[in-house]
Amino acid sequence: MASDDSPALDPLSPAFAWDPYPAYARLRARPEPVYDPLTDTFLVARFADVAAIARDPTMVRAPEAVMSPEEVAERRRRENWHDMPFHARFVQFSLLDSDGPVHDRLRRLVLGWFTPSLMGLQRPAIEAVVDTLVDGFAGGGEIEFIEDVAARVPGRVIGRVLGVPDADGPRLRRWSEDIVQFFDVDRSDARKALAEATTREFHDYLVAALDERRARPRGDVLSRLAAAEAAGRASRDEAISTAMLILMAGHGSTIDVLGTALHALLRFPDEMRRLREDPALAPSAVQEMLRFESPLPFFHRYATRETEVGGRVFPRGTRFGLLYGAANRDPQAFPEPDRFDVGRAPNRHLAFGGGPHLCLGLHLARLELDVVFTTLLRRFREIAPTGPEPVYKTGLSVRGLRALPVALRPA
Ligand code: HEM
Repeated sequence: MASDDSPALDPLSPAFAWDPYPAYARLRARPEPVYDPLTDTFLVARFADVAAIARDPTMVRAPEAVMSPEEVAERRRRENWHDMPFHARFVQFSLLDSDGPVHDRLRRLVLGWFTPSLMGLQRPAIEAVVDTLVDGFAGGGEIEFIEDVAARVPGRVIGRVLGVPDADGPRLRRWSEDIVQFFDVDRSDARKALAEATTREFHDYLVAALDERRARPRGDVLSRLAAAEAAGRASRDEAISTAMLILMAGHGSTIDVLGTALHALLRFPDEMRRLREDPALAPSAVQEMLRFESPLPFFHRYATRETEVGGRVFPRGTRFGLLYGAANRDPQAFPEPDRFDVGRAPNRHLAFGGGPHLCLGLHLARLELDVVFTTLLRRFREIAPTGPEPVYKTGLSVRGLRALPVALRPA
């Protein structure tokens, strides 16, 4: 076990990328949150502590609640988040990064769209997307699962919900990746320039789309945002940042978990067989896929009042790093947490967070996973890895594979 003064985590190392769970276990073994200079947070790894902070409305996302404008500006400079006007207006400000009444108002604008019943209506459309995709290699053979399947589903699905054409899917994916990457620990100037330029491009795209929906409303989220703006319930900037967040939030995370979920099924062939033989297990299998490799493992909160965590008192203004990925492997919450069990129940994981910022797209994300794996296992008798062990992305805020080549044999 690591001594108390060893570095908390080494998230850019290949060892951490391959298997972050021993490092997470070491953090959980420490009695109290550990300060991590790289993220400037106190890392919280135990399930009970992470859940309590996520669900506590006095723990907030926006620094303005606990810092003066000068301190916020200084922090942004330190983190290389300054001098990026488009990023500041549409990414640094968002539904996700606001709290209290502003957050409630923005969340209400789109909440009605993401209910389980409305998302359930998308099932046939998602099945059609996945079936058409799979038709392309129905005869079997080798595919690269991330590029050939995972990356092609969420863009079309989220595009359909928002109301953007399929042809724009690849662009949306690139934009979403270029912006999301800048949330990670690598805040180089090159990544910064890319994030700013991409936000600007994305902004221009959404301005045109919102204008078009205002003139000709349709039954999609962009039309709803355009109507909210026209009725004075949201500013233009808020409508753009909300659309951008939905497009980004639902994209990379879903691609990543599709890949890690297939990798888990390949590493636990008995579980793949069990799911194949009993497709009714799909809902619990999907929950387990999200718990086992949570694609967005790290988010922060600021304490707006003095708080005790793990027996230590932290002052107002403390920034906590919530390790959802570590909490989801906590043996205090999940028996045999490193075992992938498609029938695990109960499975109250934190892959979608909790409390005021609970993921808005969770029903849609689960549905996508369900449809992809139900379809693949129905249409292919065998799915086997080819080539060497796949490579995981480095970093703390995303968990996903770079590539996953597999061979398919049709049913
Ligand atoms: C497997 C896929 C996904 C995962 C693991 C995931 C995870 C999360 C997590 C952990 C949060 C909370 C962040 C925090 O605690 O600070 C969140 C928030 C959010 N997610 Fe997701 N998400 C996924 C897919 C989606 C999809 C498909 C959409 C949209 C259709 C979406 C939209 C959002 C939005 C808008 C928020 C902000 C909610 C708020 O602040 O009130 N997500 N997501």
